[in-house]
Amino acid sequence: MSDSVNTVDLYYEEHGQGLPVVLLHGFPFNHTIWQAQQAALSDAARVIAPDLRGHGQSPAPEGEYAMDLMASDVLALLDRLDVPRAVWVGHSLGGYIVMAALRLAPERIAGVGLVATQPLADGEEKRIQRRESAELALENGSADTAFSMMSQIFAPGIDGTSPLAQSVYDIMVNTPPTGIAGAQRGMAQRPDSSDTLRGLSVPAVIVAGVDDKIVERDTTRAMAALIPGVQLVEVEGAGHMPMLEQPEQTTGALRSLIRMVSVQER
Ligand code: MLT
Repeated sequence: MSDSVNTVDLYYEEHGQGLPVVLLHGFPFNHTIWQAQQAALSDAARVIAPDLRGHGQSPAPEGEYAMDLMASDVLALLDRLDVPRAVWVGHSLGGYIVMAALRLAPERIAGVGLVATQPLADGEEKRIQRRESAELALENGSADTAFSMMSQIFAPGIDGTSPLAQSVYDIMVNTPPTGIAGAQRGMAQRPDSSDTLRGLSVPAVIVAGVDDKIVERDTTRAMAALIPGVQLVEVEGAGHMPMLEQPEQTTGALRSLIRMVSVQER
């Protein structure tokens, strides 16, 4: 499946041994947002954190990055690493990719972690905004996107001038314009994934920042209601970036997912 489309070779980092766990970052970030989880979970799992196409150190070709294509990149990486089945964890855009992978290759997914993400497709207004943002990035570079994301991603307690906020801004501003444009165009075309989640039959955990302005609480709770047996972890003091804002709680939720999957796969 994964070699039938134009996949790219993703950059990745890998730590630990055992049950494979793939951590997919959101838009427009890179694998380093998972640093705390990579380090903490490597005592219990083989943690693989790629840079998605168009982000970090992975190739950033021109064009539209459909969610199926981005999922196929990850499947191709797992083929390269000889990993037939893994726990897939996705943050925001990463979550959309997990949902695409659940349609493409459900047999390869042993458990699902959905972090600050949601299953709905964009409305027309949002699609137009994304296309404009893609054009703007190609014309002017990545700073506009990075700047506008900064006002949305953190809970109120996080100081926008702190080293944490500065490091996240640096990640975003260094995402290539072709990557920003490709991901925005791909996200604009993504389908509704509600039915995919309704049919989920592997262990699942949702992690949501209580102060997330991008994925609001009602949307998260509606998503949780779709998934049989899901564990919903609502994190106080976190916005759209719970893995950075409240790393220990996020790690704890993912550790619980790993435990559930280990029992089920035994
Ligand atoms: C993300 O963090 O990946 C984005 O907010 C997702 C989106 O733009 O829908």
